[in-house]
Amino acid sequence: MKQEKIYLRDYKAPSFSVESINLDFNLNEDFCRVIAKSNITKKEAAELRLNGEELKLVSIKINDKVLTSQDYQITGEELIIPQVPEKFILEIETELEPQKNTSLEGLYKSNGIFCTQCEAQGFRKITYFFDRPDIMTSYSVTIEADKKKYPVLLSNGDRVRIDDLGNGRHKAFWSDPHKKPCYLFALVAGDLGVIRDNFVTKSGRKVNLEVYAAHGKQERCWHAMDSLKKSMKWDEDTFNLEYDLNDYMIVAIDDFNAGAMENKGLNVFNSRLVLADSNSATDVDFHAIESVVAHEYFHNWTGNRVTLRDWFQLSLKEGLTVFRDQEFSADMTDRGVQRIEDVDALRVGQFAEDAGPNAHPVRPESCMAVDNFFTMTIYEKGSEVIRMMQTIVGRKGFRKGMDEYFKRHDGQAVTTDDFAAAISEPNGKDFTQFKRWYHQSGTPVVNVNESYDSSKSEYTLTLEQHCPPTPNQPTKEPFHLPLMMELLSKNGQELKLECDKIETNSDGKHLIELKEAKETYVFKNLNERPVLSILRQFSAPVNLKWQASQDDLYFLMEKDTDSFNRREMAQKIGLGVLRQLIDQARNKKDLVIDQRYLAAMSAIIRDEKMDHGFKAKMLQLPSHSVLAQEEAVLDTESFHTARTTLKKAIAKENRQQLLEIYQKFHGVEPKSRDTKAFGHRSLKNSALSYLAELHDPEVLEVVNKQYWGAQNMTDRMTAMMILADSESVHRDKALHNFYEEWKNDAVVMNKWFTAQATTSRKQTLEDVKTLTKHPAFNITNPNNVYSLLRAFGANLVRFHDPKTDAYEFYADKIIEVDAKNPQVAARLCSAFNFVQKLEPAMKEKALKQIRRMVGIEALSKNSRELLQSALA
Ligand code: ARG
Ligand code: ZN
Repeated sequence: MKQEKIYLRDYKAPSFSVESINLDFNLNEDFCRVIAKSNITKKEAAELRLNGEELKLVSIKINDKVLTSQDYQITGEELIIPQVPEKFILEIETELEPQKNTSLEGLYKSNGIFCTQCEAQGFRKITYFFDRPDIMTSYSVTIEADKKKYPVLLSNGDRVRIDDLGNGRHKAFWSDPHKKPCYLFALVAGDLGVIRDNFVTKSGRKVNLEVYAAHGKQERCWHAMDSLKKSMKWDEDTFNLEYDLNDYMIVAIDDFNAGAMENKGLNVFNSRLVLADSNSATDVDFHAIESVVAHEYFHNWTGNRVTLRDWFQLSLKEGLTVFRDQEFSADMTDRGVQRIEDVDALRVGQFAEDAGPNAHPVRPESCMAVDNFFTMTIYEKGSEVIRMMQTIVGRKGFRKGMDEYFKRHDGQAVTTDDFAAAISEPNGKDFTQFKRWYHQSGTPVVNVNESYDSSKSEYTLTLEQHCPPTPNQPTKEPFHLPLMMELLSKNGQELKLECDKIETNSDGKHLIELKEAKETYVFKNLNERPVLSILRQFSAPVNLKWQASQDDLYFLMEKDTDSFNRREMAQKIGLGVLRQLIDQARNKKDLVIDQRYLAAMSAIIRDEKMDHGFKAKMLQLPSHSVLAQEEAVLDTESFHTARTTLKKAIAKENRQQLLEIYQKFHGVEPKSRDTKAFGHRSLKNSALSYLAELHDPEVLEVVNKQYWGAQNMTDRMTAMMILADSESVHRDKALHNFYEEWKNDAVVMNKWFTAQATTSRKQTLEDVKTLTKHPAFNITNPNNVYSLLRAFGANLVRFHDPKTDAYEFYADKIIEVDAKNPQVAARLCSAFNFVQKLEPAMKEKALKQIRRMVGIEALSKNSRELLQSALA
């Protein structure tokens, strides 16, 4: 099969405009009939080409005249009408089978509920239309369905009315006053429970808020509701952005490919990101719900009011909206801890993506499957690009730029260039070089060199940057890098910076704007050698190569005035220690623990003054995925040996103190969800996970007691995960109990799958295989696939176990999922991204499976695109 690529350079403005569209849905059990009536204007000589896939065409009319088959052509992907008048009404009737739609894009059914997912290109599975974001139009929608089975009928915008048709059916009328691209269209029909509240905007508009979920589950929607109200307030306070409709609806759906979708006025959510109470959801779940509800709400301005010209611009809305939700979370919780979490996620996911076969720029130039664009690079690196803009112009300057962006582009479909211009121009900045962040892929490396001349009282800093080659980009131009920095005195004070190349942004932060491949900075009047604190708050998404002395690193870990950097230094030192241990393990030597590191970690454990949430972050050891990026060879068994040996040594040294931490905080305010309680729990559970490394029966008793006595899901889940990863006598009983307790709860069951898929036990693969046949596992449910299979693929120790056939099993599952749901299958493929780092025998094993998958004629273009790059 020939797979076509699409290119950004082929973009052409549309030849038609659509003034309005009316969509009429008639929903039945075995088919759905759609009549789409659009008002179209031809702007230049052109044939009419509409996108449409897997549709059954019933009829086409132009200005009420029925077309015959000579008047048009249908390919697998398009409807082409060569001759159309200048202005016309196009009426197309199609028939769909939503009940058979397993791809979960377009119109489909989940647990008896009709719902839609149109982004990126699902609308073409509903009717023939211009399925491109630069065609924005006004929507009116009618939905007719059985009244008993589908009492709730929803679409975008304002409710006009609902008619009882008398024959057991009813019909709802909706009208959206805002023009939008079709990817933001949504429909929901079903029998749903609902909770209601309202929000009064700053100009006095009363907005009705509704969160819908399966009957009986609606009481678990209050946290989502609360998060929505906080988001609405925050966007008014921070960016002066107000909501623009009378209703805002969120619907929780069990079968959903992604996290959530920002359809105008009618967000559709994966139920795992809506449903939560302290019995069923962990602190991490609560936090994720708050941030995703905010994310989708923020899209109303960054995405919906101002939308995309084409899909290559996806980061225009996603990078910006992630940035906005990260800032919101920072304001709602603890800014320092939030930044640590966001950078950890970036490093684990996006840096790995940038180093792998599917690296791509934040604004890509080409692709096979548009749905493959929903990546960490577009989202998380995209957010870092926006954050750097804010760092360069300062918060005030950034707000000025955002105001300008909405002033210029409200109601338009625009590009990342338009955004960059709106931020830079009002601030008198030139972003020409900065925009390389949009088209160059890869993670830049910054080398740091320092020297101090006591005779001149001068400190000299030399910075060099380069970026490793990535697919299609062998060489790169230098990036414009904002590096936040300070120089610290011996006792940790920030010193006065006397260097004319240092900028101070509008927030008063000191900044190096590195633009050349190599630059030198001389700081004067320093009577003693200062200690450098650079890349504060991780002000640019780069890999810093800095051969600092151990003394400086330990000093910064203890004293840096930037809390992010203290934790960063702890990670950097920890990484060095782990890499030594890995080397010893690989060479079959005795593993020798670095005593200075051990002492420093012990000091942190014993520090009574440190904030608890921050302390938990300080105690975290670098993950296997971070090790995988640093090490030349992916020998995960030695990663595991190194990490557990180190953890055990720390636990052994501090057994008593860790138990004290545990006892001090266990059971304190178990139902509280404020940031402080979250911090206590995260600290005492990390103490527990250290202690568990000792494998002593006394500790496992504590874990077991926590499982059975838990008063919230955070504690229960932590205990279950520790037991699941142990050979404890308590293991099976706890897992069995969890199953019995939650077997009827689709969202919570995913935790049970993940706990078993992520263990380091040798039989994990066999367990996963068995679980795929478990009655609770449904391969058509994306959450099940992610929580069991994808979690296993990310379990580096067991996925890359040379003694198993994990690759073959995993490939079988990709093939099986791909036939039903290409988007979900594609998300499994990244497990093979490390192929180039495998030892020869393992590499051959992996490549064999990749070749087998790519050799399948019917493999989707989504999976194909991601897999074949690993063969290049
Ligand atoms: N726009 C949605 C969001 O806010 C994500 C939709 C994902 N769609 C997809 N095809 N993967 O992030
Ligand atoms: Zn988004």
